[in-house]
Order: sequence, then structure tokens, then C-alpha cells
Amino acid sequence: MATCSDFGTIIACLCFVSFFLGLNVLMPVMLSLYSSPSWPSFSIDLFDNQAINMTRFNENLTIHFHLKLKNENSAIGLHYPDPINITFSYFPNVSMMVNLADYTIHSFYQGNGKTKHVRDLVETIRVPTVLEGTDMVAFRVDLVATFKYKKPSSKRHKVVVGCDVAVNYTTSQKMQTGFIGMTYPGYDSQLQPPVDDDYAG
Ligand SMILES: *[C@@H]1O[C@H](CO)[C@@H](O)[C@H](O)[C@H]1NC(C)=O
Ligand SMILES: *[C@@H]1O[C@H](CO)[C@@H](O)[C@H](O)[C@H]1NC(C)=O
Ligand SMILES: *[C@@H]1O[C@H](CO)[C@@H](O)[C@H](O)[C@H]1NC(C)=O
Ligand SMILES: *[C@@H]1O[C@H](CO)[C@@H](O)[C@H](O)[C@H]1NC(C)=O
Ligand SMILES: *[C@@H]1O[C@H](CO)[C@@H](O)[C@H](O)[C@H]1NC(C)=O
Repeated sequence: MATCSDFGTIIACLCFVSFFLGLNVLMPVMLSLYSSPSWPSFSIDLFDNQAINMTRFNENLTIHFHLKLKNENSAIGLHYPDPINITFSYFPNVSMMVNLADYTIHSFYQGNGKTKHVRDLVETIRVPTVLEGTDMVAFRVDLVATFKYKKPSSKRHKVVVGCDVAVNYTTSQKMQTGFIGMTYPGYDSQLQPPVDDDYAG
């Protein structure tokens, strides 16, 4: 009898411990993943798989690119309800940014932890020139997106990110290789800072 009730106590204990663990350890983890999820991240590899020759820029340029859009959340999906707008530009001098091409990604849904790859090209509408006073062509890529978390009453968040990609005019070598993380724009972008109405951390 004693053994039996001890066994029962152990089971009850184990049940209590696992309930306690579930409630006090796992629940907060799940809740925090769910209630304060992360924003998606964006990175781009400009001129991926492309032999570029800057000194041949007497005609409009084709820009190949590979863009990665990552849902950083393992516990929640994302909707991108509006078209994602991407702008390719260059700086003729430090006080001006000139548009080269625009690109749009249609609205889509992105599952937990998924990465969307967009490999495509754009034709520029003009010929970029070197950044005044340097021997490099300074390109800029800007991206504007909106997204919603897949949970009840999630509002639209606006993401405005960008990055610079410089190419040595003499050697036609990119000065940064591989993917470049797109971040909140600095002084070098004409874009307005994002207006955030919902996300409070
Ligand atoms: C770029 O093209 C020019 C003219 O065709 C050529 O002289 C030059 O060697 C090329 N540069 C590179 C880095 O391929
Ligand atoms: C910058 O470049 C643009 C386009 O070439 C030109 O219109 C503008 O006057 C330049 N600004 C300065 C400060 O050099
Ligand atoms: C570049 O493209 C624009 C817009 O398509 C066109 O008007 C212009 O003539 C082109 N320029 C060259 C040098 O091909
Ligand atoms: C992208 O541009 C289109 C057309 O101007 C606009 O309707 C859409 O809202 C823009 N997307 C974002 C995320 O601002
Ligand atoms: C571009 O390449 C040339 C030749 O290698 C080099 O002398 C120059 O410093 C480079 N420019 C930049 C901005 O790195």
C-alpha cells in the first residue's frame, strides 16, 4: 500500500512539475514569441552572378540582384498586404540621389521562419556616373514594405530599409561582396523615417 501511494505521489508530483514547467517556463516563452515577435529582415546581393564593366556604361545598365526577405519568427507567420516597392538609385554627389529603376514584389504570405528569395533583374532608365570626387559608382537600394503578424487584430507595420553598394569604377569590382543587410535609412537616403503605429516591443 505504501509503495502504491508513494508511486501515486510521484506521479502526482511529476504531473505537477510538468504542469508547473509548462505554465511557468514554456508558456512565457511561447507568449513572448507570440506577443512581441520580430520584424522581418532584408538583405540583397547586387550584381550577383554578373560580370560588370563600369567603363562600358555608355548605355543603360542591367542590374541583376538576389534579394532575401526573412521572417525571423519561428512561431508566427507574416502577411505582406501591400506590394513591396524597391528603388534602385545612385549618388552623383553627396547631396543628391537619382533614380535608376523600380521593382515591385506582389503581396504574399510568409510562413514561420521562412525566407523568400527574389532573383531578378532591372533595366536602368539612365547611365549612372561616379560619385563626384571619387572613382566609385555609389548605388543605393531602398525597400518599402508593410506587414502584419498572423494573429488577431494585428495592425499594419511599415518597414523602410536600404543599403549602399559601391563599385570601383576603374576595376569594376564591388567594394562589398555577398549579401548586404538592409537597414533603417541613414542621412544618405531621401526617404522619410518609418511611421510606426502599432509595435511597442
Ligand atoms: C571594360 O570594357 C572596356 C572596353 O570594352 C575594356 O577596355 C576593359 O578592359 C573592360 N574592363 C574590365 C574590368 O573588364
Ligand atoms: C549633384 O548632382 C546633380 C546631378 O548631376 C546636380 O544637378 C547638382 O547640382 C549636384 N549638386 C551639387 C551640390 O554638386
Ligand atoms: C535609357 O532608358 C531610358 C528609358 O527607357 C531611355 O529613354 C533612354 O534613351 C535610354 N538611354 C540609353 C543611353 O540607352
Ligand atoms: C508601393 O507602391 C504602390 C503604388 O504606388 C502603392 O500602392 C503601395 O502601397 C506601395 N507599397 C508600400 C508598402 O508602401
Ligand atoms: C579602385 O581601384 C583602383 C585600382 O586598383 C585603386 O587605386 C583605387 O584606390 C580603388 N578605389 C577605391 C575607392 O577603393
